[in-house]
Amino acid sequence: MTDKVTFTINGEQHEVGADVSADTCLSTYLHAQHLRGTRVTCGTGGCGACMVLVTRLDPDSGEKTSYSALSCLIPVLGCSGWEITTIEGLGNRFEGYHIIQDRLVEHYGTQCGYCSPGMVMSMYGMTQEKSSWTDSDVERILDANLCRCTGYRPIVDAFKSVTVQDIEDAHTLSCPRTGQPCKGRCSLKSADSKTSSCSKLGEKPESRLLQLRGATWHQPASLQELYDILSDLPQGTKYRFVCSDTGKGIFHDEGPYSVYISITSIPEFSRAAASPSGLVFGANVSISRMMSEFSTASQSLSGFGFAEKIVKMWKRVGGTALRNMGSWSGNFAMKIAHRAFPSDVFLSLMAAGAVVKSGSPYGGDKEHTLDHLLDLDLEAERRVLLELRVPPMSDEVVYRLFKIAPRSANVHAYMNAAFSMRVDSANAHAVIGRPMILFGGINEDFLHAWGAEAALEDNSLEDEATVQAALTALRDEIHPDDLPVNPSAKYRIDVAQSLLYKTILGIVGDIADASVASGASDLERPLASGQQNYDENTDRWPLSKPVTKVEGHIQCSGEADYVADLPPLCEELSGCFVTSTQANARIVSIDTSAALAIPGVEGFVGIQDVTGINNIQVLQWPFPEPLFAEERSSYFGQPLGLIVAKTAELSKQGAAAVVVTYDDIQAPVLTIKEAQQQPLPSPQGDPFVEGDVEAGFAASTHVLEGGVGHDWQYHFYMENQATLAIPTDDGLDVFTASQWAIETQRSIGQVLGVPDSTVNVSVKRIGGGFGGKITRGNIIAAATCLAARKMRKPVRTVLDMATCMTMLGGRDPFWSTYKVGVDAEGRLLAVQATMTSDAGYVNVDPNNTGSPPAVPSCYICPNWEITPVTVLTNTPNNTWTRTPGTTEGVTLMETIIEHVAVALNLDPLLVRQRNLMPDGSFRRVSEGVFRLRCGRGGRDAIAIPKQVKVEKNIIGDMLTQLMSSADVENRKQMVDTFNKNHLWKKRGISVMTMLWPHVVPLLYPMNSLVSINQRDGSVAVSHGGTELGQGMNTKVVQVVAYELGCPMEVVVVKPTTSHANANSQGTDGALGSYTTAYSVSEACKKLRARLDAVRQSLGVEDLSWKDLIKAAANEGVDISERYCNGPGEVQSYPVFGVCCTEIELDVLTGQFLVLRTDILQDAGTSMSPMVDVAQVEGGFVMGQGLFTSEKAIYDPATGRRLTDGTWHYQVPTAHDVPADFRVSLLSNTPNPIGVLDSKATSEPPVPLSYTVLMALRNAVASARADGGTVGWFNIEAPFNVEKLQQLCLVEPSRMVLHPGAR
Ligand SMILES: Cc1cc2nc3c(=O)[nH]c(=O)nc-3n(C[C@H](O)[C@H](O)[C@H](O)COP(=O)(O)OP(=O)(O)OC[C@H]3O[C@@H](n4cnc5c(N)ncnc54)[C@H](O)[C@@H]3O)c2cc1C
Ligand code: FES
Ligand code: FES
Repeated sequence: MTDKVTFTINGEQHEVGADVSADTCLSTYLHAQHLRGTRVTCGTGGCGACMVLVTRLDPDSGEKTSYSALSCLIPVLGCSGWEITTIEGLGNRFEGYHIIQDRLVEHYGTQCGYCSPGMVMSMYGMTQEKSSWTDSDVERILDANLCRCTGYRPIVDAFKSVTVQDIEDAHTLSCPRTGQPCKGRCSLKSADSKTSSCSKLGEKPESRLLQLRGATWHQPASLQELYDILSDLPQGTKYRFVCSDTGKGIFHDEGPYSVYISITSIPEFSRAAASPSGLVFGANVSISRMMSEFSTASQSLSGFGFAEKIVKMWKRVGGTALRNMGSWSGNFAMKIAHRAFPSDVFLSLMAAGAVVKSGSPYGGDKEHTLDHLLDLDLEAERRVLLELRVPPMSDEVVYRLFKIAPRSANVHAYMNAAFSMRVDSANAHAVIGRPMILFGGINEDFLHAWGAEAALEDNSLEDEATVQAALTALRDEIHPDDLPVNPSAKYRIDVAQSLLYKTILGIVGDIADASVASGASDLERPLASGQQNYDENTDRWPLSKPVTKVEGHIQCSGEADYVADLPPLCEELSGCFVTSTQANARIVSIDTSAALAIPGVEGFVGIQDVTGINNIQVLQWPFPEPLFAEERSSYFGQPLGLIVAKTAELSKQGAAAVVVTYDDIQAPVLTIKEAQQQPLPSPQGDPFVEGDVEAGFAASTHVLEGGVGHDWQYHFYMENQATLAIPTDDGLDVFTASQWAIETQRSIGQVLGVPDSTVNVSVKRIGGGFGGKITRGNIIAAATCLAARKMRKPVRTVLDMATCMTMLGGRDPFWSTYKVGVDAEGRLLAVQATMTSDAGYVNVDPNNTGSPPAVPSCYICPNWEITPVTVLTNTPNNTWTRTPGTTEGVTLMETIIEHVAVALNLDPLLVRQRNLMPDGSFRRVSEGVFRLRCGRGGRDAIAIPKQVKVEKNIIGDMLTQLMSSADVENRKQMVDTFNKNHLWKKRGISVMTMLWPHVVPLLYPMNSLVSINQRDGSVAVSHGGTELGQGMNTKVVQVVAYELGCPMEVVVVKPTTSHANANSQGTDGALGSYTTAYSVSEACKKLRARLDAVRQSLGVEDLSWKDLIKAAANEGVDISERYCNGPGEVQSYPVFGVCCTEIELDVLTGQFLVLRTDILQDAGTSMSPMVDVAQVEGGFVMGQGLFTSEKAIYDPATGRRLTDGTWHYQVPTAHDVPADFRVSLLSNTPNPIGVLDSKATSEPPVPLSYTVLMALRNAVASARADGGTVGWFNIEAPFNVEKLQQLCLVEPSRMVLHPGAR
C-alpha cells in the first residue's frame, strides 16, 4: 500500500500525494509544473484544447496502450503508472519541431493558436495508437477539437499530409542533443528516466490510500480490496468511483465526496473477451476499445454483424479522446443516477440485449437486463458494475440506431432511438413477436415505446394501417419533458415518429415506392476536400507571398504565451468573480464572511473598493457600464465583486461561499418580443433614408412583407478572458487579453482613479477575440487591477468558459421586419425595414449601428427607409461580434431578394442580377447610426465618411465567374431532379452576392514604432493593433520587409503596449490589420528614405542589409521611426463577395450536410494570400454557426443563460463545415485606394455563410411543397435541426410506403 501516485510527464518522473486534491485535474497540475502549452478552454471535455497523450499498461493484459486524452478531466491522482506526453514533449524552438507541428504551420492551420497544441496532440495520439491510418481516420480524430478561427479545412489538410513514413522518418532522425534516434519527443529528459518509468509501468499494480484534505483516495488493486473498502465505509458516506472521471464534464456539481475510489487498477475490470456466446467487457473498458472489439466481432464472429451499427453510432459519442477515456460502466452509472441523460451507449446496448453483472460486498453478484438496471440504487447497495455481456443477435433481427443531435460530432443527443425487431422478410415483413423500440431524450422515465411495440407485434410492416397505428401509438405515449435546453415537445414527438418510419422504410426496402426510399438512410458526409486559388504576385514578394504564420511554430508547440499561461509570480493571488444569481432584482446584501473565513482566501474587492468611477466605459460612450452592480442586479451573472485567494481553486471556493440576498425580484425580460413591451431606451439610432418609400410602394406591382430573426452568438474565443495585474513602483503592469490595449488602459485608469500613464498595459497576442475582447475584457482587467492594488500583490483572474458565457455579452439578437415593393420583373422600388436589436441590459457597444446602411448591399433601389431600434433586456451587455450589424443588414437584404423571387416565381439569381447597383453608385453610410461608433475616436459624427463610392460594381463579373467555376446551372438542375425524385431527402443550392461596405472612420489612429538594431540589422516592430489570430503580425512582417527591403527573417513583432502605441484604436471591424499595416508601412517608408540616402551617399548599390544598417548608424542616422495615421488617411471602400452553397437535408429529422461551398472573395491585391484565404474560410464557418446551430437559451425564472458551455452551445466542428470547400481570391483586382492595393478580409466573408441557410431554406421549401404548402415563410435563424424539421411540415399521415396510392 502506498500513499503516493507516480507517473512520468515527457519522460520525467512526478510524484503526488496529499499535496493535491481529488479534484486537481491533470491540466491544472501541468500548469503548476510550468508545462503551460496544454491549453484549457471549456474545462468540461468538450473542446479538445487540453489534449495530451497517455501511455499506460492495461492492468489485465499487461500490454501498453497509447491514446489521446483530455487532461481537463483526468484527476492527477488517477495517473499512477502512466507515461504522459504533453505538447512540450513533441518539439520546440530549441530542439526542433515535430513533423505534425511543421505540417500544421505549413498548411496555415493555426490562427490564434489556442486550439493548436490540442490539434497536434490529437493527431500525434493517432499516430502513436495506430500503425497506419486513412484520410477518414484523420477526419475522425478531429471530431472533438474545436477551432473558432480556421474553419478546420487547413488543419484537416495538414494532418492528411502526414504519412506513416513521415512519422517513421521522424523516428530515425538523430536528435541534435542526444545523438540518439529521435522518437518525436524531443524534450524527454533522458533515456534513463524513460526506462525507469517503463519498468515501473511493468510492475504489478499497487494499492493506494491517500489521506487528502477533507477526503480519502483509494486505489484498490483487486476486486476483494474494493469490496473491503466499500464495506468499511460508514453508513451515509458520500463516495465516488473514479474510472476516467469524465462524468464530471457533464454533471459538474455532484461533489464534494468524502471518499474517492479509483477502480482502474483492478485487472478484471480492463478485460475484454470475445466468444461466439457473447462479447464481455469489464467495467473499465473504454468506449473506444469496445468499438474496436465490436468492429472485429462484426467481421469475424457470426451473430455480431449488428455490432458495426453500434460502432457507427458511437463515432458520435463525445469525441475520440472522450471515447478513449470513458467507460461503459461510468456511462451506465450516470444514466442510473440521471435518468434524463440521453445516453447513446446505454440505449444501443439495451436494444442489443446486453446484460450487466454487478457485485456488492453484501449481496453477491447479480445479473441485470438494462431495463432493470435503471432501478438499482448503486450507492445504497454499495453495488459495483462489474461486467457487461453483449450476446449475438439472430440474422432475423433488424437492429437500427439513431442519434439526432444539433451538430455532426462531439455532441449529446437531442434524442436517440434504438430498434430491435425480428422480421420475417419472406412473409410480408411481418414482425415476429414483440419488437423493442427505445427512445432517449424524451423524459427521465421514458425508454420503451410500449404502445408502438404492441402495434407492430406480429403485424406486417408492409401494411400501411399497421404503420399508421404504430405512429399514432407513438404520438400518444410520448410526453417529452419541458426543459428549456431541450428541443420542443412537438419536435421530439415528430422525430420519434420519423425514426420509426425510417426504420420501417429500411426494413421493407424496395417494397416501398422509390420516392420515399431515401427516407430510410442516414446522411453520409463525404471525405472533406478543398481548393484555394489566389494570384502569386511574385513581383512584390515578400509582400503578397503566400507565407506561413510568423508565430505558427510557437503556437503549434504551445510555446506561445497567453495571459493565463504566463509563469506564476511570487505571492501571486487568483481572482474569481462573485456574480449575481438573479436577473432583475434588488441586491439587499453581499455577505463575504464565510468566504473570507476559508484559509487561503485573502480578500474581497467590491464596489466599495472602486476609488475612481464604477464605470468601465470611457468618456466617449453615451452610457456608463458599471464594473460591479450597484443597487440592482440587472442580469444573471452580473459581477458583484472579486474574491482573491492563494490559488484558483480557493478563489472559486471563496466566490461560491459568498451569500447574496435579493428582494424585489421581477420577472426578467429576456427576449426582443418581451422587451418590445417596455419603453424604448433613448437615444435611438437615426434611420437610413433615401427617396420616398411610400411613393415607391405606390408604384409597385407587388408589395411583400416579412420578418427575419437572428439569434445571439457567443464569440467562442478559445482563450477565455484573462488579466494579470502586477503592482510596480510606478503603478500597475497589466497583461491582458484585450483587442484594444489602450481602451483597457483608460478603463482601468478610470475605475481606479489613477493617471492612465501609471497603467502599463501590454498585449502580446490573444487566443481569439472576434469582438468579445474589445471592451468586455475591461471588466476583468479593471476588477483585477483593483484587487492587485488593494492586496498589493500580483493578481491573475482567468475566467472559466461558463463565466465568460454568463457574465459577458455576445452578438445582439435581431428581429427585423420588412416591406418591399417591386415591379413585375422583380426590380426593387422601395425597401422599408425596422431592425430591432437586443443590446442586453445597457446600450453600449452597439451592434445596430452598422446594420441599416449595410442593407442595400450590392443592390440599387430608389427608395430606402431602414430604421434601427435598440431594446434592452435583462441579459449581459451585448457587444460587437465579427461583422456586427453588417451581417444582419446584408442578410436581411438577401432574404428580401429571395422573398421577391418566391413571390414572383423568378429565379433568385435573376432577381439579384436585375437589381445590381450600376458602376459609379454611391453607397450612403448613415452618419446618425454611426454616431456611437464614431464616438470611439472621441469625435462627433463629422468624423464618419458619408458614403462609399462604388466606382465599379464588379459583382456581375464575379457572379459570371462563380457560375462557371462552380457549375451552378448544371447543379441547380441536378438539385431539382433530386428533389423531384425524393420526398424525404432534399437538396438546396443557393447563390449570394454581397457588397460589404468597409467603412473606416476618418479618425482611426494606429500608432506604430519600427526600430532597427544597429549591431545586426534586426528589426523590432511594436504596433497598436492586436494579433488575435487574424494574421496581423504576419502581414506586418511582410510589409516591413517589403518597404525596407530587408529579409522577413530579421523582423519581429513585439507586444502592443500602452506606452509605445499610446492612443491607438481597437482591433476590430476588419480595421485592425489593415490600418496597422498602413501605419507600419508609412513608418518604414520614412526609414527607407533615410536608408536610401545613406546607400546613395556610399555609392554602393549591392550593400547587404546588415552593412547598410551599420553604415547608417555610423553616420548618425536615426534608424527608428514611428508613425500614426491621421484623419482620413485610410479610406473606405466596398468589398465584394459571391458564394454558392449546396446542402442536403434529411427532411424527417432536420439533420443536414453542407456538401459544397464555393466562395469568390475580393481581397484587392492580397498582402498575404494564405492569411486572407484563412480569414475567408474561418469567417464563413463562424457565420455558419450563427445561422445553423448557435443560440442562447435562458431560464425564464432567474434569467440564467443555460447555454453556458460546450454541452449546450454548439459551434461547428470539423464534421459540419462544407465537405467540399473552395475559396478563390479574386484575381488581378488591386484596390487603388487600399493599403498596398489590398482589401480587408477578416469580416466580409461572414455574411456569405447565409448561403447555407438559404440553401436549407430552398430544400425546406421543396419539402413543404410536397406536402402542399407553397409560398414564402419567414426565416428565424438559426436553422438548426429542430427548426428545419419543423418547417418541413411533415404530417405523420404522409409517412407511408406508397404515397402514390393515396
Ligand atoms: C464532453 C462529453 C461528451 C459526452 N458525449 C456523450 C455522448 O454523446 N453520448 C453518450 O452516451 N455519452 C456521452 N458522454 C458521457 C460519457 O460516455 C461518460 O462520461 C463516460 O462514459 C463515463 O465513463 P468514466 O469512466 O469516465 O466514468 P466516471 O466519470 O469515472 O464515473 C461516472 C460515474 O459512474 C460511477 N461509476 C464508474 N464506474 C462504476 C462502476 N464500475 N460501478 C458503479 N458505478 C460506477 C462513478 O461513481 C460516477 O458516478 C459524454 C461525456 C462528456 C464529458
Ligand atoms: S479544456 Fe479540456 S476539453 Fe476543453
Ligand atoms: S486557431 Fe483554432 S481556435 Fe484559434
